[in-house]
Amino acid sequence: MSDPGTIQLDVHLSQTDAGAALRSDVTRGLAASPKELPPKWFYDARGSELFEQITALPEYYPFRTERALLTDSVDDVARASGADTVVELGSGSSTKTRLLLDAFTRAGTLRRYVPQDVSESALRGAIDELHRDYPHLDVHGVVGDFTRDLDRLPGAEPGGKRMIAFLGGTIGNLLPGPRHDFLLHVRSVLQPGEQLLLGTGLATDPAVMVPAYDDAAGVTAEFNRNVLHVLNRELHADFDVDAFQHVAVWDADNSWIEMRLRATRDMRVRVADLDLGVDFTAGEELATEVSAKFTTDVLDDVTAAAGFTTTRRWVDPDRRFALTLLTAA
Ligand code: SAH
Ligand code: TRP
Repeated sequence: MSDPGTIQLDVHLSQTDAGAALRSDVTRGLAASPKELPPKWFYDARGSELFEQITALPEYYPFRTERALLTDSVDDVARASGADTVVELGSGSSTKTRLLLDAFTRAGTLRRYVPQDVSESALRGAIDELHRDYPHLDVHGVVGDFTRDLDRLPGAEPGGKRMIAFLGGTIGNLLPGPRHDFLLHVRSVLQPGEQLLLGTGLATDPAVMVPAYDDAAGVTAEFNRNVLHVLNRELHADFDVDAFQHVAVWDADNSWIEMRLRATRDMRVRVADLDLGVDFTAGEELATEVSAKFTTDVLDDVTAAAGFTTTRRWVDPDRRFALTLLTAA
């Protein structure tokens, strides 16, 4: 019999840090031309809940496709990795992760799971459920920003090995510059031989991709507009949220889906906590998020440039999503 698992939650994003980061992001983004807002602010408790609803939408194929790829590959991943610690970045509700935890348990190596997310509410919910369902696993959650706080993740156990999972195609939400910095940073916290399991959307028919980010029921539209609710609440702004329309377009040159919020009339928005007035003209668009879609060649280049070698890759029959096991060179 193994010992009972422990449970721990580190909160690295203090309220003051998060507040200052939000104020500086919003000040910069609303002054930019075109206007923009960074996507991590989507994920308050309501945003995380809306994302959970997105994963169940018929149009949102990435979630189901990645889950099927994981189902087929997890035992090979666990054998190839041999890690005793699975770290997960942007773990959300950790739903698909259970497939990995089960496989690493079958392989007999798993001791510890370290989920990291900006959304404290999503992380708390995930940790409680995992502790109940995996009573022998040490679960060490870390609330933080994966573009800034990777240094604060726990290190390898003596003689142990870690695998970092970064699923959901979330790497596609980073623009090329920040994406390269992020991969370099991930590489720098790993020891040679440790691994990164990366889930990425592949470029496919726009008629398949666009509806995944613009569903008929309007859940993605609500998710996108949620960032305005966050600004109204956190910064005492007065966005008329219903006066913004959700837009999702395929940008073939950049190979990404771009999401925007389009003002449907002229308006002036006050952001009281920033002492800021911002004018929108009818039709003006605020850029909120991209979701980049890759080819396997681009993926190999992007990861090799950050010091990873491709160990194995799994692609679904429709070539819509890839799961890649990378090794720190
Ligand atoms: N991995 C899950 C969730 C993907 S949604 C899945 O595959 O279904 C993206 C997740 O990343 C959300 O849980 C969101 O809260 C988190 N996230 C977004 N930006 C982040 C950042 N900068 N740092 C840490 N987590 C972030
Ligand atoms: N990582 C997810 C993706 O790119 C995030 C996401 C899904 C998303 N649906 C969205 C972001 C809608 C903004 C709007 O697939």
